[in-house]
Amino acid sequence: MSTGADAVKLMKQQVGKAAADRVQSGSIVGLGTGSTTAYAIQYLGDRIKSGDLKDIKGIPTSFQASVLAKQYGIPLTTLDEVDRIHIAIDGADEVDPQKQLIKGGGAAHTREKVVDGLAELFIVVVDRSKLVERLGSTFPVPIEVLPMAVTPVMRALEKLGGKPELRMGVKKDGPVITDQGNMVLDVTFANISNPAELEKTLNNIPGVLENGIFVDLANVILIGEIQDGQPIVREM
Ligand code: 5RP
Repeated sequence: MSTGADAVKLMKQQVGKAAADRVQSGSIVGLGTGSTTAYAIQYLGDRIKSGDLKDIKGIPTSFQASVLAKQYGIPLTTLDEVDRIHIAIDGADEVDPQKQLIKGGGAAHTREKVVDGLAELFIVVVDRSKLVERLGSTFPVPIEVLPMAVTPVMRALEKLGGKPELRMGVKKDGPVITDQGNMVLDVTFANISNPAELEKTLNNIPGVLENGIFVDLANVILIGEIQDGQPIVREM
């Protein structure tokens, strides 16, 4: 294993492949967002190409997911066309021992919560660096906000003890704009003792579309690790 970056890539590839292997022919599949899920989408495409997987349709959680699905030959559908989602595969920024998540590192958590929350089986794909004892210890909580409400929402978040920061673009001047045309606040909380309660409290602030705390949604957590120099996948 030459560099840390190579190891992370290997873990992400393996875990993405392991999740893609669990998809069965005939399924409606929620397609998550992020670099780990991108490998799952790629492997789903490989399985379709080889004839191993037939008759699946994807529901993308972002512009990125729909571009990748088209690139790898996965037919897409929408929530208006289907009455169920059999399985969703998505990444996470933090996973705690109760399978609670922080998501939204790619600013896609609003659509992700809709799609992942509807799935009969929601598989989370992460490398081991995402495992935490307590949510909020390594990653702030992303909150999607209507642009006209950014200032009052920031004040409300400060009153709740959070430290909000407007997410700024990379290789783009100004704030990140979500696929829905909104902005993202990354909010640091000193101590998230009750994620379920905080999730509801945040969504109750007028102008907030959705926050990145996912409680009681994940069914399976697949974790990519390196053991004796080789990538392995274990299930939490
Ligand atoms: C996007 C997400 C991603 O799933 C999350 O940020 C993990 O991404 P990656 O697999 O690139 O580490 O929630 O909104």
